[in-house]
Amino acid sequence: MTDRSTRRQWCRGVGAACVVVPAVGCNLPDGTGVAYETWADYPDRSLPAELRLVQAAILAANPHNTQPWRFVVSPTSIELWRDADRSLGAMDPLGREQVIGLGCALENLAIAAPGFGRAVTIETLPDADAPLLVARLGLATAEAQDHPLADTIVHRHTQRGRYLDAPLSEQVEPAMVELIDDLDDVELVLLQGDDRARFRSGTIDATKAIVDDREMNEASHVWWRQTIDAIERHRDGLTIMAMGFGAATQAFGKLGDGPSAAKAGAYWIRNTERGQTTGSAFGALVTPSLEDPAMLLQVGRAWQRLHLWIVANGLAAQPLNQMFERRDREAQRGLPRDFGERLDGLVGEHAQLGFRVGYAWDEFGPSPRRPVDWVVDA
Ligand SMILES: Cc1cc2nc3c(=O)[nH]c(=O)nc-3n(C[C@H](O)[C@H](O)[C@H](O)COP(=O)(O)O)c2cc1C
Repeated sequence: MTDRSTRRQWCRGVGAACVVVPAVGCNLPDGTGVAYETWADYPDRSLPAELRLVQAAILAANPHNTQPWRFVVSPTSIELWRDADRSLGAMDPLGREQVIGLGCALENLAIAAPGFGRAVTIETLPDADAPLLVARLGLATAEAQDHPLADTIVHRHTQRGRYLDAPLSEQVEPAMVELIDDLDDVELVLLQGDDRARFRSGTIDATKAIVDDREMNEASHVWWRQTIDAIERHRDGLTIMAMGFGAATQAFGKLGDGPSAAKAGAYWIRNTERGQTTGSAFGALVTPSLEDPAMLLQVGRAWQRLHLWIVANGLAAQPLNQMFERRDREAQRGLPRDFGERLDGLVGEHAQLGFRVGYAWDEFGPSPRRPVDWVVDA
């Protein structure tokens, strides 16, 4: 085949793609539609205040977008329950991330309440006989008040693209420390400078270890949602639009049936080596004990608050927990402590949640959410 005929064939191929892509494009996921309505409608003024508060909780960060919550609601109270069926299995072997995600929901409730004229009292893990009951919130009518982070609830999204390699301003770290000062059991460790390289290489190595561990990789892949149909049926999980891919990868990725778990793992490693370990600083939230559920809830509250503050101040963030997930897996399987040791050395014992923070090159939009009526029990 001559160069010219090869080129002609290539041009024909591109021409065909130019016709096919827009033609099927209307059936491809684009981050809009019923799966995203809670973001678009929030706060839905047609709902009573207590259900608007549930909307706020639904918009919180949570592991793998599993949304492991249920709510029992009355005009004077909201109970937050753990949905044990929505666990990450081998990806979250000690169930730590699930409880942290519930803490994130709790924080959004607390931040939204004053704006809807509600004063809240929060009792966490109130009932030893009901192990899935996470918190009971009392709601009293009060004069409506603005919370400085309430307007950001709807703008906070996990940003998984490339970040600028620029230092944080000197005010950021003390402001973040002060923001969570009232959460007595949570300490913030921020790694800037040389320690960033150790966090970065540890995260890449841990991603490879997860992908090599078939049970973990498949437990993660269960939550992948490829098509509009899957996104709208489940309204949870991870989508191609939220992964931080460039425009071409997104466009062509949407055309296929979706990657196998192994292929998705390979993309994940590549993405972690490239964009997902860029940024101004890595950080971790640390507590005095690793598995105390009350402390895990505080970590969730701290992360949600910090992420809202980060976004309100023009920065971006992504939790990065591969090392933490591997450390828990080592404990669960009685494996030699590799990532456990690395984390102890980097951020101290009992590190609960890792993240990166910085200035995003590109902003990515929301992840799907299950609506209020799917998660509220009478
Ligand atoms: C405890 C916890 C752990 C998380 N770990 C990761 C992680 O390792 N990598 C990542 O990209 N996102 C992580 N996330 C972010 C969630 O995937 C994200 O919150 C969820 O998909 C919903 O998307 P949103 O934050 O954009 O609303 C984590 C969130 C929580 C609460």
